[in-house]
Amino acid sequence: MPFPDAASDPDLQALATGHPERTDAFWMPFTANRQFKKTPRLLASAEGMYYRSVDGREILDGTGGLWCVNAGHANPRIVQAIQQQAATLDFAPTFQMGHPLPFILAERLAAIAPDPLKHVFFTNSGSESVDTALKIALAYHRARGEGQRTRLIGREKGYHGVGFGGISVGGMVNNRKFFGAMLPGVDHLRHTLDLQRNAFSRGLPQHGAELAEDLERLVQLHDASTIAAVIIEPISGSAGVVLPPEGYLKRIREICDKHGILLIFDEVITGFGRVGKAFAAQRFGVTPDLISTAKGLTNGAVPMGAVFASKAIHDAFMHGPEGAIELFHGYTYSGHPLACAAALATLDVYESEGLFEKAIELGPYWEQAIHSLKGLPNVVDIRNFGLVGAVELAARPEGVGQRGYEVFNRCYFEQNLMVRCTGDVIAMSPPLILNKEHIDRIFDRLAATIRATA
Ligand SMILES: Cc1ncc(COP(=O)(O)O)c(C=O)c1O
Repeated sequence: MPFPDAASDPDLQALATGHPERTDAFWMPFTANRQFKKTPRLLASAEGMYYRSVDGREILDGTGGLWCVNAGHANPRIVQAIQQQAATLDFAPTFQMGHPLPFILAERLAAIAPDPLKHVFFTNSGSESVDTALKIALAYHRARGEGQRTRLIGREKGYHGVGFGGISVGGMVNNRKFFGAMLPGVDHLRHTLDLQRNAFSRGLPQHGAELAEDLERLVQLHDASTIAAVIIEPISGSAGVVLPPEGYLKRIREICDKHGILLIFDEVITGFGRVGKAFAAQRFGVTPDLISTAKGLTNGAVPMGAVFASKAIHDAFMHGPEGAIELFHGYTYSGHPLACAAALATLDVYESEGLFEKAIELGPYWEQAIHSLKGLPNVVDIRNFGLVGAVELAARPEGVGQRGYEVFNRCYFEQNLMVRCTGDVIAMSPPLILNKEHIDRIFDRLAATIRATA
């Protein structure tokens, strides 16, 4: 049934036109609540590349929802799979019980994961996947008799969700500073964003592989025997699309290997085709020991995350009495039937529509299109890789993020285009079903907005 638009529904009209008494109860996440509620941006329905707003406009989705709708909105196979599953088996526990779907799904996922990451632990979100991966890393070392390896290394500008583990290893100041001491024994690598040397790079930046040596510095400081794991995003999205310099990830892997440190790739945004392969690990030819994922796993349709672990890690737990629980960790909804059904259908769609390859096919066109914005007012950098793009704008003297927010807001209201802004970076990660016309539309609309925004 199509969602009624605001014109014909007084309830929606009240929400859409910012009636405070109707919007007060929902405390919105990562949102300027008071500002939003004065002029809400409300989406009512979605199909393919487009949302429909409550005031009846077609909004081109330049961000795959929130980096998750890789197969486009309301794909009929995914919709049907969820509907059927809800009517067949709504819930079944996976603690000392089971149902077939997570076993089937894990096998399917293992088949597309890089060797030797063939074991899958299910969660419900990216944040949970990150905390799960960190906990597995700590428990793995303990299981091997190296329980003194307790230190975790993250990176400045890293985003690893909002759990206490994730914000501890994360490096985004506002996500950390309000929340106390967080986990002890965490340190951070330097980030790799370098506008001076790398602005307007096409694809991976050339300069900065040497920043990987920062890990050697931390090893010297703490001693390798205390370090459990390094966690990084191959491409970080939330801090404004920060790309790994050519050779950087490979060098991080080498240093981890040299010192017996586990490497975790947080692929919550890069997993499931964003950069032209199932995982960025495969596109970059660097294999970590653990991968955290979520988002594109179910096309965003039902919350689900997954952690991929190497055989060595998994097998290290499979000792001791057979009746003993090997890992004291899990969620009520790990392997939830609806999420599994959504994920299986999503994998079918990725496969049958060849969506993982889309970022390689369309990458050059995307790159050309985004870099055509060079020279527009206030554009200080443009970054791209696969079907990820970012346009960084100069901050206004009055404050960081103001120009970015205005561009984002005007794109939505004036150009019917949904983008993301973090600070003054406009980030894009469209559904992988897009075509060249959609790409033209995204960048024509964004360019018009940037031109119109002082
Ligand atoms: C790299 C990365 N890790 C973790 C997360 C957290 O995911 P969630 O919001 O599903 O908890 C995100 C979300 O954007 C992310 O980009």
